[in-house]
Amino acid sequence: MKLIGALVLVAACTLGRTDGANILGVFPINGRSHWVVYESLMKALAARGHNVTVITSFPQKSPIANYTDIDVSKAFPSAVNKISIDLVLNVLSSIFANQWFISSHSLNICQTCIKLPTVQALLKSDIKFDAVFTEIFGSDCDVGYAYHYKAPLLSMISSSHLPWSYDRVGGPDNPSYIPTIVTKVAGKMNFKERVINTLYYIYFKMAWKYYSEWPADKFLKENFGPNTPYINDILYNTSMVFVNGHFSLDGPRPLVPNMVEIGGIHVKPPRPLPKDILKFIEDSPNGVMFFTFGSLIRISTLPKHVLDIFKEVFAKLPIRVLWKYEVDMPDKPDNVYISNWMPQRDILNHPKVRLFMTHGGLLGTIEAVHSGVPVIGIPFFFDQPRNILKVVEKGAGILLEYENLTRESLYGAINAIITNSSYQTNANKLSKRFKDRPLSATETAVYWTEYVIRHKGARHLKTAAVGMPWWKYYLVDVIGFIAIITFAVLFTIYFLLKLAYRKFIKKIDPKNKVKKN
Ligand SMILES: *[C@@H]1O[C@H](CO)[C@@H](O)[C@H](O)[C@H]1NC(C)=O
Ligand SMILES: *[C@@H]1O[C@H](CO)[C@@H](O)[C@H](O)[C@H]1NC(C)=O
Ligand SMILES: *[C@@H]1O[C@H](CO)[C@@H](O)[C@H](O)[C@H]1NC(C)=O
Ligand SMILES: *[C@@H]1O[C@H](CO)[C@@H](O)[C@H](O)[C@H]1NC(C)=O
Repeated sequence: MKLIGALVLVAACTLGRTDGANILGVFPINGRSHWVVYESLMKALAARGHNVTVITSFPQKSPIANYTDIDVSKAFPSAVNKISIDLVLNVLSSIFANQWFISSHSLNICQTCIKLPTVQALLKSDIKFDAVFTEIFGSDCDVGYAYHYKAPLLSMISSSHLPWSYDRVGGPDNPSYIPTIVTKVAGKMNFKERVINTLYYIYFKMAWKYYSEWPADKFLKENFGPNTPYINDILYNTSMVFVNGHFSLDGPRPLVPNMVEIGGIHVKPPRPLPKDILKFIEDSPNGVMFFTFGSLIRISTLPKHVLDIFKEVFAKLPIRVLWKYEVDMPDKPDNVYISNWMPQRDILNHPKVRLFMTHGGLLGTIEAVHSGVPVIGIPFFFDQPRNILKVVEKGAGILLEYENLTRESLYGAINAIITNSSYQTNANKLSKRFKDRPLSATETAVYWTEYVIRHKGARHLKTAAVGMPWWKYYLVDVIGFIAIITFAVLFTIYFLLKLAYRKFIKKIDPKNKVKKN
């Protein structure tokens, strides 16, 4: 009896908790806005007592218990504050160039990373992993690590749903009502928008094969052995996809059980602000606007006439402006504070911050939504227009187009937000909905990670759509079959009626006889 009792107890414990799993995160990407999302989960897993090993370009400054960095930062210069506005406007803002750019960037990183001695040592060691994490971004070349360790594959997206993240888990992404990440629309689509959305959808499916799938498969065969299965066969084994989105912001969409939204996971508990920034905010009579174009774009590379618009409009405002700007600004207006680095999350969390002006990067947008701050977006490329439109749709922001930016439009937008309280009211509503969840974003991600480990990959979550060719998925064969049968039946009926008419009716119809004679 005692033995059975003990066994039941052990079973109950193993069901509820997963102790000390060995977890590998393969996140060599050198973009901080990607890393902070992955870092949140990796650290949370280490705090739960798992042994976490991470291939990263952002090593921890001080060691963390149960957390080992494999530092690859020397191989990749950080991309922080490197991208000029010309690169953004001439290359990244085209979805064609952008797709090529992110795919080749990710593949280059895979190629460099796998040759590093520390990574080779890890691959050659006999360490066993219970779960391997990769990023879904430009290329899936990292999934080779999951195959190598024969471990369940979990993938994270630092942005909202990407068009190439659905197929691996069979998630519905019908373009009739689900906008792609670059479609400039939020809410319902009209006919024109559905046409554009469908073209984007088809483009991404094809571009992904050409730019990402085929080159990544070649990479896998070269680096993980010629017998490595085709890349999609590894991808179709994906146990879990974590998306940095939430229905309260992105709009509702159907999700398969192994695609889980963890939007806001990167938002950390607030910390105190640096003294000078805090003083600048607290001494402001009418509140503060926070303005940044994020950690990638060098704002000082903007053309002079655009910078002049900002400076002249800011000088006229009744509020103060915190502006993330990398270099000195000799003609800085008096009500403006500039700094190369600003603690964005903590600034947005200050109650005197009334407005966030942004390029529409997802992390900043989420932080503003989280803290209930209205937004003015001047988006440039990829998901940025849609990130802003999602907030605009909820009445908590205004979108300005960079190409058409004028003193009047900029002043008008800022003035609207600080004088019309509806923006603040809607931002508060959105913030409440975004945070109202059964488990926090981090708890959700930890729960589902441990679930996958407990159930050895949790293959029972996989829908039958995984790996189905599109013509089966969209029932083209079944519709074709039914159409042929229907035609055959209708034609047979038509033919029989015609025959019957000729044979019987025609003969006894007196008029016909008259005509013929
Ligand atoms: C995590 O760290 C704690 C304290 O350093 C240690 O007792 C524990 O064994 C570690 N767990 C793993 C899985 O390494
Ligand atoms: C934790 O992972 C490291 C590799 O990063 C490995 O050397 C170590 O043996 C692991 N510890 C345990 C307790 O499995
Ligand atoms: C996929 O998962 C199944 C079931 O766990 C396993 O048998 C198979 O080897 C995996 N395939 C690949 C390519 O990893
Ligand atoms: C405030 O903004 C809302 C939403 O844009 C608009 O519907 C409303 O008319 C505005 N109110 C005033 C007084 O301008």
